[in-house]
Amino acid sequence: MSYYKALGLDKEPFSSSPDPAFFFLSKEHKAALCRLQVSLKLKRGLSVIMGDVGTGKTTLSRKLARVLNEDKDVLFHMILNPYFKTDTQFLSRLAILFHLDMPAKSSELDYIEAIERYLFHTGVERQKTVVLLIDEAQILPDFVLEILRILLNYETNEYKILQLILVGQMELLPRISRIKNFWDRITLKYVINPIGEDEVCRMIDFRLKEAGFKGRQHLFSHEAVMMIWKYTQGYPRKLALMCHNALENLVMYDRKIVDEALVAGLIESEIKPVVRS
Ligand SMILES: Nc1ncnc2c1ncn2[C@@H]1O[C@H](COP(=O)(O)OP(=O)(O)OP(=O)(O)O)[C@@H](O)[C@H]1O
Ligand SMILES: [Mg+2]
Repeated sequence: MSYYKALGLDKEPFSSSPDPAFFFLSKEHKAALCRLQVSLKLKRGLSVIMGDVGTGKTTLSRKLARVLNEDKDVLFHMILNPYFKTDTQFLSRLAILFHLDMPAKSSELDYIEAIERYLFHTGVERQKTVVLLIDEAQILPDFVLEILRILLNYETNEYKILQLILVGQMELLPRISRIKNFWDRITLKYVINPIGEDEVCRMIDFRLKEAGFKGRQHLFSHEAVMMIWKYTQGYPRKLALMCHNALENLVMYDRKIVDEALVAGLIESEIKPVVRS
């Protein structure tokens, strides 16, 4: 039986997948989400969200997708793995996302013109907000950034027609700051910081509740939570992994609460991994 079922939960509470259902609105994540929503509402064009590894960028992107998919005036498109070798590969991916019927052997110019027609028809005539979010944007090749710059030029007197959101690790910063005419177009830059000490307890409770926890007693002691926070420095992926390991141990050794001793044991085994001969 899975460990979480032994604890009376319906789902795994600390899975490492970026499931928006487990997205806790910490101050940092809430600020990023709200600012993105405002930027999209005002159709300001280019937003950039950055953060260290495992700070919740993909989960935030999926949460935004969920929120925007409920809005009939928004057409939300997302590229999760932007690994492109040629301009045409990238342009044809956009054409597929925008449901454009392109003849085989279309040239780059054909694609650009079709995308431009689509954007004007959808964004101006139909008055929809067209959003394109690209995750892992730190790996985008320069030729893709150049195409995106061209697409960001489409505008009316009042607004940008394509709303582009680039989400990526901190290496994205030097990549785009080098390209001056791209950098100048950014209207929202936000760096997601790890979760604060004051919020980590609530985040753990939120994920447990989301997984179906109905118990009255806490599964984690306050001291254990503080120890987890100190060790993980509030990085959500590290937090989730440590909580997952803690609950697994709780079940394995038939204990009632994750306390300092249990967490100390986990930390020690992470620092000094057991070597099997
Ligand atoms: N606000 C949050 N509330 C709860 N869990 C979160 C939150 N943000 C991230 N997590 C958890 O942290 C883990 C890593 O999140 P995610 O994959 O979104 O990070 P990332 O910043 O995209 O990482 P990478 O830089 O490797 O792409 C996931 O298990 C996710 O559920
Ligand atoms: Mg990610």
